[in-house]
Amino acid sequence: MSTEKKTVLAIIGCGRIAQGAHFPALSRIENVRVKYACDLIVEKAQKMKDNYPNMVEEVITDYQVALADPEVEAVFVLTPNYAHYTITMEALKAGKHVMCEKPVTVSYDLSVEMAKEADKQGKILNIGTCLRFNRSVEILEQMNREGKFGNIYHIYCSFRDFRCIPGLGGAFTTKSQSGGGVLIDWGIHYLDLILYILGGAKIQNVTADAYCEMAKDMRSYKYRDMWAEESMDLDGTNDVDDFISGYIRTDKASISFNGSWAQNIEQRDAFIDFMGDKGGARLDYCGQFKFTNGETLETYQSNHDMPDMYECEDRAFIESFNTGVKNKNNVDNILESMKLLDYLYRSAEKRSEIQL
Ligand SMILES: NC(=O)c1ccc[n+]([C@@H]2O[C@H](COP(=O)([O-])OP(=O)(O)OC[C@H]3O[C@@H](n4cnc5c(N)ncnc54)[C@H](O)[C@@H]3O)[C@@H](O)[C@H]2O)c1
Repeated sequence: MSTEKKTVLAIIGCGRIAQGAHFPALSRIENVRVKYACDLIVEKAQKMKDNYPNMVEEVITDYQVALADPEVEAVFVLTPNYAHYTITMEALKAGKHVMCEKPVTVSYDLSVEMAKEADKQGKILNIGTCLRFNRSVEILEQMNREGKFGNIYHIYCSFRDFRCIPGLGGAFTTKSQSGGGVLIDWGIHYLDLILYILGGAKIQNVTADAYCEMAKDMRSYKYRDMWAEESMDLDGTNDVDDFISGYIRTDKASISFNGSWAQNIEQRDAFIDFMGDKGGARLDYCGQFKFTNGETLETYQSNHDMPDMYECEDRAFIESFNTGVKNKNNVDNILESMKLLDYLYRSAEKRSEIQL
């Protein structure tokens, strides 16, 4: 029998991101015990126990059971956005380290409270801004530190897709539960990785326009695919951005972006362009990048290995709470991105620029 110390975790929320990313990732990490798989829908938690019988021990529907267990060192909060705050705060107060999915929660102010609670309890709170562990993002961050871009003066990104509003009428499209639409759901990844590659840029002023146009009449909304379709509720609410356009000034570079969950353009555009005076790069979201050296006019197409970013993120979280050293996904490093989302939404609501 192995005498190696095992890390004891509880996973709260066994939906899409749990099933598709964190359970597979954790199953590849040595010496991990998932003492509890928890979901309000018991079948979802049971499915994880059935799929990972050597890792998952118990199935529960009440996360308080896991919080009350002194053996549990850390919990993963993989629930819809509206539940991040309460579960994370309770878990921190119960003395657990927390890995909470992105966004931190539905607003910047509550995110700050979560960060403060983590410090007060002396616990690690990491956020699932997994793109910080994407290999291309890591390489571009290093290239920027090495001066390969010269001065990055502007970044443009596009996160647009064709008619794919998730779970129309359910939690995703109800602002009080999600905090917003395409910006908080997809945009957080793009804007956060940009701030990261820039080396922690500080926001100076922002302007945005947000639209909720494509499913004003939910019953007549047409689509080919809808993710989170099981949460669709045509008697529910759709009050979030399905398209947003914005402009941001930071102390390092300006950023412009367009994002849409739904548009009448049958195309997906998911990329980020970094404009530097010495070099520039286009990063395919979650993929490889092309870098052009402005002096030699040579273009390099990257073709590196892509380790699973969720596995890297989860390994780094475990290492962080074992060593007590905060890493790049620590909530402290994600607050600027949450502030940015908050101000972009405020600007869109006021229809004017906001100075920070
Ligand atoms: N990092 C990424 O790339 C990424 C990708 C997708 C989703 N996410 C984030 O992950 C979170 C979950 O998204 P999802 O798509 O997996 O949603 P989901 O609806 O598929 O899963 C959430 C699960 O949480 C459960 N749940 C809700 N409240 C609970 C509670 N109090 N106790 C126990 N279980 C509870 C639900 O029953 C559901 O099964 C969201 O915050 C989302 O933004 C991150």
